[in-house]
Amino acid sequence: MAYYRAVGEIPPTRHTQHRDPEGRLYYEELMGEEGFSSDSSLLYHRGVPSAIVASEVWELPDQGRTPNHPLKPRHLKLHELETGLDAVEGRRLVLGNNDVRISYVVTGTDPSPYYRNAIGDECVYVESGSGVVVTVFGVVDYRAGDYVIVPRATTHCWVPAEPSRLYAIEANSHIAPPKRYLSRYGQLLEHAPYCERDLYGPTEPFLVDGTDVDVLVKHRTSAGVVGTRLTYATHPFDVVGWDGCLYPYTFNIEDYMPITGKVHQPPPVHQVFEGHNFVICNFLPRKVDYHPLSIPVPYYHSNVDSDEVMFYVAGDYEARKGSGIGLGSISLHPGGYAHGPQPSAIEASLGVDYFDESAVMVDTFAPLDLGEGGLAAEDPAYAWTWARQP
Ligand SMILES: [Fe+2]
Repeated sequence: MAYYRAVGEIPPTRHTQHRDPEGRLYYEELMGEEGFSSDSSLLYHRGVPSAIVASEVWELPDQGRTPNHPLKPRHLKLHELETGLDAVEGRRLVLGNNDVRISYVVTGTDPSPYYRNAIGDECVYVESGSGVVVTVFGVVDYRAGDYVIVPRATTHCWVPAEPSRLYAIEANSHIAPPKRYLSRYGQLLEHAPYCERDLYGPTEPFLVDGTDVDVLVKHRTSAGVVGTRLTYATHPFDVVGWDGCLYPYTFNIEDYMPITGKVHQPPPVHQVFEGHNFVICNFLPRKVDYHPLSIPVPYYHSNVDSDEVMFYVAGDYEARKGSGIGLGSISLHPGGYAHGPQPSAIEASLGVDYFDESAVMVDTFAPLDLGEGGLAAEDPAYAWTWARQP
């Protein structure tokens, strides 16, 4: 994250003595990305942040992946998927490759375990529901339409105020605004479709007393994605203050300003974030093309170098009319295969000046495999719908 924030009590000079009212030193921790060469924050703990008393295997939900072979476009109906109720352990893997994994969970109202992802940043899209995410940096609220960005290695837990549908995009890298939206010093530029005012981070510390606290850690070994349960001597939510440019935040799709054009605009104008070897875009309610002969739905396109995942979250997605896709659906249109609107959707779109549609797209630059949740939610008839419908 590009801009600086300070929360709670911090000393005026970094790396100097910082004491509680009884005179005890706080323990300073640097969380820094890319070694010491990128964004970081300094956190001041009441307890020793490295003091663990136990380490055990945490058995993750099934992380197995099945190649998309023979090659097919896929339709996955996430609303038909049974999941666990826990925002962390209840996730079912829908799609994944070595750069990013997409999971889905419908929570109850119990808090998740304490958790951190040591593989990469998480971008969790909130399809519905509300609550808070409690982190070592403090609390961020969440509501429908939010992307919740949780940096790698941030200890946190999800506390839903109501059942919540969460679409978890877990990177093997960091997730950030596209570089082309940023000044050379990291400020969001005027042509970006959102700005710093639209990002909501923690505003005050969140402190909990406790001993022998379990934290679930997702990490990697040569055997792939695995989990470990670490038990901490004191509660990890013990940070009295922090400052820096690394912290969790939310961004809501309502605050995204769609870029439109005289003729059809390509997906990069809808981009919101990027990670290593993937991008995240959102297609949102907007005025559409105003050339008198324009065709508002997309042309057929062969994504030569990417697999395209659309998650349909609200409204009525014009290009997919007649395909069986509805709210809660995912379409996977893989590289090596041209896709586009249902033929009947092209004529139907002529003269339309507004699309009431909301979809979150992940484009990956390496092929995606199907997770066990994706296989369980598949509509096997989808691949043939262009040929069978007018
Ligand atoms: Fe597409």
